Amino acid sequence: IFCVFVVNSNSCNLKFPEGFQFGVASSAYQVEGAYKEDGKGLSIWDEITHQNPLLFGFANGDVTSDSYHHLKDDVALLKNLGVDYYRFSLSWSRILPQGTTNVINQKGIDYYNDLINELLANNIQPLVTLFHWDTPLSFKEGGGFYSESIINYFYDYANLAFSIFGDRVKTWTTFNEPKSFCQEDPDGFLGSDPSLGWLDYTCAHNLLRAHSQVYHLYNNTYKPKHNGIIGPVYNLEWDEPASNKTADLEAAERRRQFDFGWYFNPLVFGDYPEIMKTQIANYSKAQNLSRSRLPEFTDEEKNQIKGTFDYIGLNHYSAWLIKDGDGVINVANPSFTNDYNAEMFKDPSWPGSSASWLKVAPLMFRKELKWIKDTYNNPLIFVTENGYADDGELIDTKRINYIKLYLTELLKAIHFDKVNVQRYTHWSLMDSFEWNNGFRTRFGLHHINFLDPKRTRTPKFSSKYYKSIIWTRKVPF
Ligand code: BG6
Repeated sequence: IFCVFVVNSNSCNLKFPEGFQFGVASSAYQVEGAYKEDGKGLSIWDEITHQNPLLFGFANGDVTSDSYHHLKDDVALLKNLGVDYYRFSLSWSRILPQGTTNVINQKGIDYYNDLINELLANNIQPLVTLFHWDTPLSFKEGGGFYSESIINYFYDYANLAFSIFGDRVKTWTTFNEPKSFCQEDPDGFLGSDPSLGWLDYTCAHNLLRAHSQVYHLYNNTYKPKHNGIIGPVYNLEWDEPASNKTADLEAAERRRQFDFGWYFNPLVFGDYPEIMKTQIANYSKAQNLSRSRLPEFTDEEKNQIKGTFDYIGLNHYSAWLIKDGDGVINVANPSFTNDYNAEMFKDPSWPGSSASWLKVAPLMFRKELKWIKDTYNNPLIFVTENGYADDGELIDTKRINYIKLYLTELLKAIHFDKVNVQRYTHWSLMDSFEWNNGFRTRFGLHHINFLDPKRTRTPKFSSKYYKSIIWTRKVPF
C-alpha cells in the first residue's frame, strides 16, 4: 500500500535483472596498512601523509584498516554481505618496491595470491584495479605521470600482474579516476602547482596512452587464454545547468565534455572532445603560446586508443549546478578550471554529508547514466563506486536512505531508459583512510575504530540493508 500510494508506484516493484551483480570496493592505500612491511616500497601517498600530518588529522595509510593482516576477516565480511565480487586495487610498490621490474617482491605477490584465492574459495570474484593513485615514490623524481617514461613502467607492471593473477582475475581496471588523480598534482601535492594549465593535460595524455597500451597487451596476450575483460574507471559528478538559459545549458554540457569526455571521448571516438580542442587552443593563442596546452594524439595513437574498453567503470557520488563563466582568460596563470569557463556550485536544497563535496542528488544519477548511454553509443556500464560519507555512526540511517534513493534511480535507468548497467559497487566495504579527510569522514558498511589496535570490524545497519537488496534484488521501501 505504501508502495502504491506514497512512492512513485511504477518504480516500486522493479527488480534488478537476472545476471545483475553487486559488489563493494576498497583501494590498497586506503585499507591495507603494512606500509613498509614484507618488502613493500613507499608510494607518493606515504610521503604526502607523512609530510602533511595536520592536513589529515594525523591519519595515514601506515596501518589504517589493516587489511593486510585481516585478509580472512575481510573475506568473511564479504561472504556475509552476499556480494558477487570485491573490487580492490593492487599496490604497485608492494609488488615492485622500486616501481620497475628490477626488483620483484614475492611477499607482496603472495599477499594478493592469498586474497584472490580466499575470495574465489568463497565464490566471490576479484575485480582488480591496477592503479588507485599510489604511484611508487621512486618515480617522483622523474616526474611521475607528468613524464612519458611512466608509460613503459606501467606496461611492465601490468604485464607482470596479468601474468601472475590473470588466470583467476577476470575483470581488470587500468586506472581509477585518472581525472581526480591528475588534478590533485600526482607527483607533488594537492593542486598547488602553478602550471596546472599544462600539467593536468600532460598527466591525462600519458595516462591515456598508458591505458591504451595496457588494453592491447591484455587483449592480445591474455584475453585469448583467460577470457577476461578490461576497462577504465572514470568518475562524473553530474553537471546540471543552473537555469534554462542557453548559456548555462551549454556550459553544463561543456563541463561534462571537459570532465568525462576528456578521458572517455578518446576511448570511444579516438580523440579529445572538439570543444576542448578549440577552447584550449583559443585560450593558448590569447596567451601568446606557440601551441595549445592540450597535447595532440598522432594518427597512430588515435587508432591505438579508440575502442580500448570492454566496459566503462563509473564512480558517481553527487552533482554540481553549472553556470556559464565570465570567459575571462587567465593569461598569467592558466588552469584547467579556467579553461572550461563555468562556475560550479551545490544546490542548497540538496542534503549534505560529512564530505563537503558530497550532496545527495539521486535524480542526477539517472540523468548521468542516460547521458552516457546517449553520448557514447550505449556502452556496457559497471557502477564501480557510489556511497555516502558520515561520521561513522553504527545506526547509519542517512547512508541507508542514500542507498535507497540512488539504487531506485539506478533501477529506473535500467528499466525505463534501457541503460546497459550490469554491476553496482558500493563504496566502501569498511571505513578507511579518505584522501581529503583522513579518518574524519566514513564511507564504510562496516565500522572501524582506528584507535583500536585490533581494528575490529563492526557491521553498521547499512550492511544489513545492502545485504537485503542483494538477497531480494529489490530496493525495500
Ligand atoms: C573516490 C575515490 O573518488 O572517492 C575513492 O575513488 C574515495 O578512493 C572516494 O575514497 C571518496 O573520496 P574522498 O576524497 O572523500 O576520500
